[in-house]
Amino acid sequence: MLESIEPNRVVKAFDREVIHEGNIGLNVDYDAVSTEVDQLLAEMTLAQKINEIRGQQAAPVDGLFYAGGDESLGIPAYKMVDGPRGARSGLATAFPVAMARGATFDVNLERRVGLAIGLEVAAKGGNVLLAPTINLLRHPGWGRAQETYSEDPCHMGAMGVAFVSGAQNHVLTSPKHFALNNLELTRFEMSANIDIRSLHEVYLPHFKRCVVEGAAGSVMSAYNKVNGVYCGEHPELLTDILRDDWGFTGFVESDWFLGTRSTASAINAGMDIEMPAPYRFTDEKLQEAMESGDLDEAVITRNARRALYQKVAYKLSDMPEVDASVVESASHIELAREVAEKSFVLLKNEDVLPLSLKQMSRTQKIAVVGDLADIANLGDRGSSMVSSTEVTTPLGGLRAYSSELDLHYFSSDSDLSTLDEFDVALVFAGLTYREEGEFIPTQQQDAEDESEFARGGDRMDLRLPLEQEALIRQVTEHSCRTVVLLEGGSAIEVSSWSDGVDALMMIWYPGREGGHALARVLFGEVDASGRLPVSFPVSMRQLMDWDINALDVPHDLFHGYRYLDREGEKAQFPFGFGLSYTRFSMDGLQAERTEAGFLLTVTVTNTGDRVGDTVPQVYVRYPDSHVLRVDKELKGFGRLTVEPGESVDLEIEILDRELRYFDTDDGWTLESCLYEFHAGFSAGELILESAWFYDGEDWEPQ
Ligand code: BGC
Repeated sequence: MLESIEPNRVVKAFDREVIHEGNIGLNVDYDAVSTEVDQLLAEMTLAQKINEIRGQQAAPVDGLFYAGGDESLGIPAYKMVDGPRGARSGLATAFPVAMARGATFDVNLERRVGLAIGLEVAAKGGNVLLAPTINLLRHPGWGRAQETYSEDPCHMGAMGVAFVSGAQNHVLTSPKHFALNNLELTRFEMSANIDIRSLHEVYLPHFKRCVVEGAAGSVMSAYNKVNGVYCGEHPELLTDILRDDWGFTGFVESDWFLGTRSTASAINAGMDIEMPAPYRFTDEKLQEAMESGDLDEAVITRNARRALYQKVAYKLSDMPEVDASVVESASHIELAREVAEKSFVLLKNEDVLPLSLKQMSRTQKIAVVGDLADIANLGDRGSSMVSSTEVTTPLGGLRAYSSELDLHYFSSDSDLSTLDEFDVALVFAGLTYREEGEFIPTQQQDAEDESEFARGGDRMDLRLPLEQEALIRQVTEHSCRTVVLLEGGSAIEVSSWSDGVDALMMIWYPGREGGHALARVLFGEVDASGRLPVSFPVSMRQLMDWDINALDVPHDLFHGYRYLDREGEKAQFPFGFGLSYTRFSMDGLQAERTEAGFLLTVTVTNTGDRVGDTVPQVYVRYPDSHVLRVDKELKGFGRLTVEPGESVDLEIEILDRELRYFDTDDGWTLESCLYEFHAGFSAGELILESAWFYDGEDWEPQ
């Protein structure tokens, strides 16, 4: 008898309909809004227009930064709220930082995070969310690495646009900091120097995706310079690229305080709103600029028009009030836990994890070692800091997980001589806001002794504080199995001690539910399923030069895995890497032509005996290209949950336009050459290949 063969379940890696559902910005009638804005402008005096192009006060009121607004005209103010890991206004859900969410490689989940943060911002009375941060991680030592998603433009674009579309169900978003803001200590002065090709191919695609595909309502410019010109007065960035090329119809606001460096130059270049208050856009300075002929009143009207546009498009004056009960609601708390669980990256596992609750609670003793186990470590204390009513520490999470566990806590300076009596030691190591984060010089100075407010800035190197390395080594001298849990916002160098440990997991800054999530992953209630959104080098020497005091920083096509590939260096843990508690195989890569590009299908089978998650990734190579190319670049990925024995077909769409390079003379060009699609489980493990040749007109499978 013939058995009917069930077809495999098919999953779309990025389902545009699902991701973009409800995004207000994508459903705006441009002509109708423009007509309404023009009518409004016709009634406004110059003073009223000027009021629309600047923030109202330096300090936020309950976390809200106000800009514009005029009751007599019925124009609402923008009320802007930070930020990337939650609503920075009073108490709110502190989600895992963006880099952790990047590690989920889960666009649907990131959309839900956007929805949740957007809703909480709306409940706080805000209407603009100052997120996502989508500055590419050029070097993992960047102090604000935790705020962004990735070292890869394709991954960043997918995660960023998912967040934007989710949040824009409720409020406008503000992808930031436009552009090339990736060094903290010198951010107010440094110049990111870059050629036009690298700018368009590497550092801008994710901004473009948020603007063009996600219709981001606003964009925040950066503090730094690009090729010697401050981003806040950069006509090429703010006008030529953002508006003329990408068709952006929202407004640009400056980064805070030092983000606007001039009056006429900034306004003319396309800086629409100075935040948080008028310094360069004061009445006097504007008057002076007009009198000297540097600034035309029509340009003020143009910028006021842009500022007004989204107020009308989003119908901000009739925005429904959102009940405060959505803030830290049960579903948001659960989401924060789910995200944390999916973000932990298991980097090494010599048959230790998952721990068995049954075995453990019967006979075994667990040592929990290191101060970080007992500290709520949510990330830096800069503008993205979020406070929650309750935060579960790792130790708290383990204690709450089961009363049967025989847990013993050893702070970092405890006597560890009894560790031989233990079966497992869970060692917590990593970074805090002291070692990395946004650096706010004035607050740092004011608080020299008050470490509470100290800001980390960039990291000079990627190692752990030396006393923590010593702590790990000390634990490994004992007979217990050693599991190291690493906290931090990006790559950490582990090569000097990792051989001695039995398991290693990166848990980032895991948000308010981090402790609960950790217990569930350690005990295998859910799979270990995060994947690295940043290459972990063996040593920083493998990477490009890194000077945290640099004022001129060269940018090109090579950084992260692209740089390692060029140098022939192998990462300690490559981009996209992460272990699971089960095993997966991959076969049958097919690449079919569609009207606009390719539909790739890859079949993934869970060959282990437990349900698990995996992240197939597709990289493209251009082996016979006539121009300089990186060895490979990520072009698609998708996250799958697969039952034991089940095979799932993942569909990844790659459009022809995503295969182009940016020619200095001709702009975006689809080269006539061979295009190889490589599928695998990380940048370091490519398993399947399929190739097509483009002869300038037609595509031929190879
Ligand atoms: C940061 C922005 C932030 C703003 C408002 C600035 O210093 O660079 O990311 O949104 O402050 O807090």
